[in-house]
Amino acid sequence: MIRRGWSLKRRLLIWLLVPLLTLTAAMLVDASRGAINASDRAYDRLLGASAAAIAERIIFGDSGLEVDLPSVALEMLGSTAQDRVFYRVQGPGGAFITGYPDLPHEPQAGKFRADGNAVFFDAVYRGEPIRVAVLKQPILLGRQAADAEVAVAQTRGERDRLASDLVVASGVRFALLVAATCVIAWFGISRGLAPLGRLQAAILARSPDNFSPIEANVPSEVRHVVAAVNTVMQRLAHSIAVTERFIADASHQLRTPLAAIQTSAQLALRERDEARLRSSVAELLATTQRTSRLATQLLTHARASDQTVGVAQEAVAIDALAADVVREMVPAAASRDIDLGLEGSAAGRQLIGDAVLLHEMLTNLVDNALRHGRERGVVTVRLSPYGQEGALIEVEDDGPGIPANERQRVFERFRRLSGRGDGAGLGLAIVRHIVERHGGSIMLGDAPHPGGLLVHVELPHGFRDRSGSREAAE
Ligand SMILES: Nc1ncnc2c1ncn2[C@@H]1O[C@H](COP(=O)(O)OP(=O)(O)OP(=O)(O)O)[C@@H](O)[C@H]1O
Ligand SMILES: [Mg+2]
Repeated sequence: MIRRGWSLKRRLLIWLLVPLLTLTAAMLVDASRGAINASDRAYDRLLGASAAAIAERIIFGDSGLEVDLPSVALEMLGSTAQDRVFYRVQGPGGAFITGYPDLPHEPQAGKFRADGNAVFFDAVYRGEPIRVAVLKQPILLGRQAADAEVAVAQTRGERDRLASDLVVASGVRFALLVAATCVIAWFGISRGLAPLGRLQAAILARSPDNFSPIEANVPSEVRHVVAAVNTVMQRLAHSIAVTERFIADASHQLRTPLAAIQTSAQLALRERDEARLRSSVAELLATTQRTSRLATQLLTHARASDQTVGVAQEAVAIDALAADVVREMVPAAASRDIDLGLEGSAAGRQLIGDAVLLHEMLTNLVDNALRHGRERGVVTVRLSPYGQEGALIEVEDDGPGIPANERQRVFERFRRLSGRGDGAGLGLAIVRHIVERHGGSIMLGDAPHPGGLLVHVELPHGFRDRSGSREAAE
């Protein structure tokens, strides 16, 4: 099942736009600070010039210090807007000369900007925010030098308007930049991801039986995904080919005994002689039994080799399992006068595995020893501990054995040695699948009795099944 995550386009846009918006917001804050500063500096220059113009007109007249207030000094401020202008001139020691005596003297909030002899600060005067420039002007009182002080103030209206105009202008520029970036990013990402869309279309357009590698022209980032898909398709193709071959082989194998059954039944129907009729029916029964065994083996093989069904992982007591199999096979052994025995023990070890499949495995090995071994021979199932926690199972007979050059091939399905028995040729293929799925290994060797076969199966304690668990699949 595919879990739905965020689309790549969405992820890319978010990763791009969130930092961009954060950066833009920070830049906007910085720009508005700069705008206020710039507007203050521009207007402060006027305020300072106005104060300097007044300071230059402080003269020592008949009645002491006087100011011949130059009209231009206040006009340069008055011309800027409807803002109101205030001033105050003081002589040395704070002696009031002219203007508004209650104009603030020093920074109220403690923040000010100094520029030469002038100090600029914000204040509130008569309920209105104002900007004040205070200028110290050295003057000569007779032979003594002293400082006069000129303060010029202006309401903040115009300078605040200028600052907010500057902020709005940069805000609009930033908004346009972000909008343009969004559009460009959207188109860029859409174009960048277009090869994925083409890849999807190419995959969907394939016919269901086309397992050839995908050969789309994809970006390097996606190439390894395509390579992985191609590997899976290759495996799928192989597994489907194997299944198809198995079905073809199985139907071919079934067709032969079914044809024999049909022929025997037709012969039996025509038979008049009772003795011959009985022998025909007996043959019919034997072929039916063989076919039934073939069908059972086919089903077991299908189950043991089906990787999509996981093997159960339960505790299996190997001693008990082997004792069960030997007990069940005693009648078959007796029918060929074979001495079937169980030796040793796996020291009570329990393996983690599928009890039904392991039982099937050992049954097939003992069945082979009884079926292909010597009549009136000896067959032994031997158990011993293996490794830290595993078990070793050996099945030994004193029959004709399997020649060394055939010991690999007998594990192939439907493989039987020529002229031997009437089995389906599936037993050892089933055994190999079961052993491998339990993480074990199987070897065919020589029994101590000349010619006899020794089957050696090593099973570890636990294993990691690569397919899903059986419970999950059912
Ligand atoms: N213990 C044995 N001694 C001698 N030959 C054996 C022994 N076990 C297997 N073989 C040979 O290997 C072949 C393959 O064995 P396998 O168990 O796969 O098939 P089978 O016994 O013929 O059929 P079935 O599917 O019924 O088991 C057998 O046909 C037989 O020729
Ligand atoms: Mg067999």
